[in-house]
Amino acid sequence: MNKRSQVLCRSFLLISLLQCLSQNLFADELAKTATAQEAADKLGVGINLGNMLDAPNEGDWGVRFENDYAAIIRKAGFQHVRLPVKWSAHASTKAPFRIDPAFVARVKTVMAVCGKQGLRVVLNIHHYDEMHVAPDKETDRFLAIWRQLSDLFASQPETVYFEILNEPHDNLTTQEWNKILPLALAIIRKKNPHRAVILGGGNWNSPEELIHLKLPAEDQMLIATVHYYRPHEFTHQGAEFLGDKAPPAGRTFPFNQAERTAIEDDFQRIADWSVKNNRPVYVGEFGCYHIAPGEDRLRWTRTVAGLCRKYKFGSAYWEFCSGFGAWDPASREWRKDIRDAIVKP
Ligand code: BGC
Repeated sequence: MNKRSQVLCRSFLLISLLQCLSQNLFADELAKTATAQEAADKLGVGINLGNMLDAPNEGDWGVRFENDYAAIIRKAGFQHVRLPVKWSAHASTKAPFRIDPAFVARVKTVMAVCGKQGLRVVLNIHHYDEMHVAPDKETDRFLAIWRQLSDLFASQPETVYFEILNEPHDNLTTQEWNKILPLALAIIRKKNPHRAVILGGGNWNSPEELIHLKLPAEDQMLIATVHYYRPHEFTHQGAEFLGDKAPPAGRTFPFNQAERTAIEDDFQRIADWSVKNNRPVYVGEFGCYHIAPGEDRLRWTRTVAGLCRKYKFGSAYWEFCSGFGAWDPASREWRKDIRDAIVKP
């Protein structure tokens, strides 16, 4: 064999080997999470890294992701983190709506640190305020952001899930959202054909909107999501970020038996929807602001976390170390009763 043939032969062998490897990796990936239900089950119990990358700039809301958080979270028994990200604050407002590469690098670092600890990561678009005000005007930019994200994160392992948009609300009703979500999904699927994708209905991912949500039948790697903060008068009492809309402090839980029954009925309805539609459900946010009386806050957290467990819904507490926080950044300790209420209800 002359030198040229040797080089050609080696290249051929190398390409065959790579093809073989990639086919095996691909087969492995399929074997790992063949169904959306499996992907949802693997989420288990998680926690939101809230008020960090979903603030206009990390640190604006008093907390930043620190590298030791992932190990702290994993050690406490959580299986995943939900990573809310305000991409809209870091993308140009002019076509092609380029996302700032430095911000992308920061998000990738946070994801890698979490991944290294064995935490699954739910990556979303959070606080895209303009989408809820004027969805018609904003859809091109929203889709352009997903086109970039889908490409930038295509090589991430299957342990990374995409969530298309946090809490559609106001003018982004479920009916409007039903028109936009298949467009976003089609973009995502081009480069992430098998990735688990999470999406919920309007009115802030309200459970009642599930029945109006139109999930493309041909896509079987979807997980439906709901957020749960009921009763709002209890969980959001004294929440300064609501300004004069904050419910007054001092409300107890359960206020009466009907209140507890209402929560149980909500979860039963969510579970019924899930079975009827053959779609797994993820409770991507639930939590109670720190102003609520301690014992009541614990009772509420145990109740909701317990229902997630009862119905085998993956779930993520809102949130790690800010106003709803399960971990106290001042003492650098878990609020153990809250943590245990979430992890071992
Ligand atoms: C919002 C947070 C808010 C939380 C509870 C989340 O979806 O992004 O800003 O603190 O819900 O209301």
